[in-house]
Amino acid sequence: MRKYTALWLTVTFLISQQVGCISADDLPDDGALDSIGLATKYGHPPTQYDVVTEDGYILAVYRLPGDGSIPVLFVHGLADSTDTFLIRGNTSPAIYLANKGYDVWLANTRGNRYSRRHKTLDPDKDPEFWQFSFHERGCYDLPAIIDTILNETGAKNLTAIGHSEGNTNFYVLGSEKKEYNSKINVLIALGPVAYVQNLPAPASILVQLEPVISDLVNILGLNELFGDNTTLGTISHTLCSVPILGYTVCGYGLLFPLVGSDPAELEQDFFQKLGPHYPGGSSYKSLLHFLQVGHRKTFAQYDYGNETNLKVYNSSEPPLYQLDQVTMPVALYTAANDGFSTLADVAILQSQLPNVVYYLLSPYALCNHVDYVWGRTAKIYFYPFLDIMLNRYNPL
Ligand SMILES: *[C@@H]1O[C@H](CO)[C@@H](O)[C@H](O)[C@H]1NC(C)=O
Ligand SMILES: *[C@@H]1O[C@H](CO)[C@@H](O)[C@H](O)[C@H]1NC(C)=O
Ligand SMILES: *[C@@H]1O[C@H](CO)[C@@H](O)[C@H](O)[C@H]1NC(C)=O
Ligand SMILES: *[C@@H]1O[C@H](CO)[C@@H](O)[C@H](O)[C@H]1NC(C)=O
Ligand SMILES: *[C@@H]1O[C@H](CO)[C@@H](O)[C@H](O)[C@H]1NC(C)=O
Repeated sequence: MRKYTALWLTVTFLISQQVGCISADDLPDDGALDSIGLATKYGHPPTQYDVVTEDGYILAVYRLPGDGSIPVLFVHGLADSTDTFLIRGNTSPAIYLANKGYDVWLANTRGNRYSRRHKTLDPDKDPEFWQFSFHERGCYDLPAIIDTILNETGAKNLTAIGHSEGNTNFYVLGSEKKEYNSKINVLIALGPVAYVQNLPAPASILVQLEPVISDLVNILGLNELFGDNTTLGTISHTLCSVPILGYTVCGYGLLFPLVGSDPAELEQDFFQKLGPHYPGGSSYKSLLHFLQVGHRKTFAQYDYGNETNLKVYNSSEPPLYQLDQVTMPVALYTAANDGFSTLADVAILQSQLPNVVYYLLSPYALCNHVDYVWGRTAKIYFYPFLDIMLNRYNPL
């Protein structure tokens, strides 16, 4: 009986904590701030550009102006946003470079909380709005963003820093819009992702189940993934910010099994701050496209099934991306404990890219898929690499 009382007290305590935490006033400041608020708080009030893509999406791009050097563009990963480059405050990668004087640009790709806008489509009413994946981000979002930056600064090229899907977008760009290769002086690829066929469980199970998951998503008509006002989005923001319980469920239960366990770098206090920022929203198609790439073991365009493929691509199989056309210099930063960008998958990517200028296996053995952006002491194992690359390709 006493055991149940103790259990009941624990549950009540956790629930009371949770209820107490729903109000935004109780959140730590950085949890409640948006990208503009975070950049401003840490000394770099940004300028916002609303970049319109060829196919009508309106993307929020923030500039933390520097002293006229060659611009540096950060692009976030799947269901993430520009918050990710700012949430560690003074030690976050965007603030680190802005403090050094770099002209820092932070891009939100289509469909997340800051880029949930379109000239004619309504994300709440038009399912077509959500028909995109890393393909459209690479073919339409990146060209519009890069053109805006080069036009605005007068620079001839820029340095790109892609995290996770953020660098997948650049492989699509280099393959499909070849003229953009010369506009990137180096792509610094953090947790590089093109192939995802050597993932550990549980991600490998999702890859195996891809056909079932795809059917389910289509039957249920699911469009927006992890949006702020979707059920999944609301639950994760609320639950993950709760002290103790949030860390247990979202950290140990979800994040660490998927991206690699590293509680020393991603501590409980940080999780409370992170909760409201991640996920930042995306489309189901973005996730399905990655699962297909893993299941089919090819880095190819979206597979609609034989008949539709014939109509869309004039071929029953989706076309492969031409990685040998991605001639921009690429620096790969990999990590042995990265659950989503495994060394085996990066080796395949590396063997197909023609211009890999640097390959670094993280000196920090527990470095996982998100430590580059969220790690408590990233300045020890990541920033020295960033400094080397920027000194070489984009000296101040
Ligand atoms: C969520 O809903 C609120 C209130 O309707 C709205 O202001 C906000 O823009 C929505 N955000 C997203 C990302 O859908
Ligand atoms: C380029 O910059 C000029 C002046 O700043 C502006 O008028 C023009 O609209 C810009 N074009 C693009 C494509 O951003
Ligand atoms: C990048 O542009 C600068 C001028 O803005 C130029 O000096 C440099 O050679 C260019 N680098 C590459 C790799 O094209
Ligand atoms: C789709 O086409 C491939 C060959 O292009 C073939 O091997 C496969 O059996 C086809 N699938 C269906 C369901 O027709
Ligand atoms: C479609 O593909 C076939 C052969 O694969 C080719 O002969 C034909 O010209 C293509 N049609 C178009 C419109 O590209």
